[in-house]
Amino acid sequence: MKLKPRLAGVASLVPCGSVVADIGTDHAYLPIHLVRERNCPKVIAIDKSANNTKKAEEAVSLSNLGDKVEIRTGDGLSALGDSDGVEIIVMAGIGGRTICKILIAAGKSLWRFQRIVLQPMGDLPLVRRWLFAQGFCFFREKLAREKDRFYEIIAAEKGKEIIHEPVHLELGPHLVRGEDPLVIPWLKEKIRRYEGILQDLSRSRAGQAGDKWKYYDYRRRVVREVLDDIYKRIPAHFLD
Ligand SMILES: C[S@@+](CC[C@H](N)C(=O)[O-])C[C@H]1O[C@@H](n2cnc3c(N)ncnc32)[C@H](O)[C@@H]1O
Repeated sequence: MKLKPRLAGVASLVPCGSVVADIGTDHAYLPIHLVRERNCPKVIAIDKSANNTKKAEEAVSLSNLGDKVEIRTGDGLSALGDSDGVEIIVMAGIGGRTICKILIAAGKSLWRFQRIVLQPMGDLPLVRRWLFAQGFCFFREKLAREKDRFYEIIAAEKGKEIIHEPVHLELGPHLVRGEDPLVIPWLKEKIRRYEGILQDLSRSRAGQAGDKWKYYDYRRRVVREVLDDIYKRIPAHFLD
């Protein structure tokens, strides 16, 4: 089974041959792919919903990978122990706030993992700020696109991160450097979204004098500056 770009992007940040825990596995597509395509010897697939772990068990049994993918019903990382030997944690398709709650609940045990790969559904700035404050660096960041929707994927590791401006924590220190092939359409889409919101707000009673309008106008300007900065650094022939 071929993964869609979002999960394929997540899988690409999992080192080949590593022992992985996929928290919030749902259908277990990712663990099956990691064993088949990235040579992972063991993947622990965890979900808090017993209905979903049942689905995962069926998918794993159909793919004959029961000896390599272990399904557990549990909340976040509480379903893991030291003896599992997990090196990489993955959380994909889960809200940013829930991801932060799971990470906070894990406490110091987080430090035993080599890498945490996250694909939050929203609240990316919150997730980045939390990781940064705890002493993680953003080892890699990546964008994925499915139709008109963009997804941001973060691979965090222990280490010092240098953040020059707050916007780098918001948009991602690697992404603002323009290193991802999807960065320009991603930023343009953000600007389009802010402009839509600003147009709606202009028609409201407070109009352009309202705090909300000022907030989104500021956001639009910040993203525009990042985009202009990337344009300056990318040779024109790459932009055609
Ligand atoms: C939308 S699905 C994402 C499935 C898959 N990871 C993906 O990216 O396609 C989110 C899954 O996370 C699970 N989940 C949410 N909070 C969780 C938690 N605290 N611990 C374990 N699983 C959780 C939900 O039950 C659900 O199956």
